[in-house]
Amino acid sequence: MNPRRRRGIRGNTSIVESVRLTKIYGSGDISTVALNDVSFEIQRGEFVLIVGQSGSGKSTLLHMIGLLDKPTGGRILIDGIDATFLSDSDRSEVRRHKIGFIFQAFNLLADLTVVENVMLPMMMIGNGASSAMRGEAELVLGKVGLAKQVEKQANQLSGGQMQRVAVARALVNRPALVLGDEPTGNLDSKSSQDVINLMKELNRELKQTFVIVTHAREAFGNVDRTIVLKDGKIESIE
Ligand SMILES: Nc1ncnc2c1ncn2[C@@H]1O[C@H](COP(=O)(O)OP(=O)(O)OP(=O)(O)O)[C@@H](O)[C@H]1O
Ligand SMILES: [Mg+2]
Repeated sequence: MNPRRRRGIRGNTSIVESVRLTKIYGSGDISTVALNDVSFEIQRGEFVLIVGQSGSGKSTLLHMIGLLDKPTGGRILIDGIDATFLSDSDRSEVRRHKIGFIFQAFNLLADLTVVENVMLPMMMIGNGASSAMRGEAELVLGKVGLAKQVEKQANQLSGGQMQRVAVARALVNRPALVLGDEPTGNLDSKSSQDVINLMKELNRELKQTFVIVTHAREAFGNVDRTIVLKDGKIESIE
């Protein structure tokens, strides 16, 4: 992994730095400009929302921040590491170590137990004994209120519980950044509020940085910053 890190004016390293980011899907007549000259920074410990109408570029932006897809133009830095010119394997390495993901559809492995699901990101990094990984996974599951469910099979949980497992799985490698694309989109309003409260609590308690795409801005209450996208551009940062 390229260890060069860029420091900001105050000597701090932004967790995310997006510099004139552009993403164009397709080419010629059928091309879509999904992101157009998007620049912002996110600092350690911030809780940030990305909002905007359907098609405004929210998921595209999250994919860029998550190093799941490459921009057409501009640059993206994660925890000071410029991912723009990294090889695919180095990008994956940065992603595995620095970023946790929470998906709308939970994306748990149904045949595995709760604790096994949470151990997966640790196994991908592959350091430490399996008993130590299990202990760490159980600790994080305790934090999300699922201490009693660790040995259950993932497909035996409620939607709200599944998403709390997904939150635990996103946190277990202690990433610099947790990303969520509509993490409450498949939940009823009570479970949705529980998952939001959990993420905000983890943000306060662990200083965990969160960047969440949502259609339900109001349910999050006060957050550090809200990036409003419109037609692939930043309309405002509030
Ligand atoms: N893989 C793709 N190929 C071509 N065009 C795409 C692709 N993904 C997204 N787009 C287009 O890019 C634009 C932004 O899409 P994006 O998925 O980022 O929007 P969004 O804000 O997440 O919308 P939603 O709220 O509906 O999830 C849209 O016009 C969309 O049609
Ligand atoms: Mg989307």
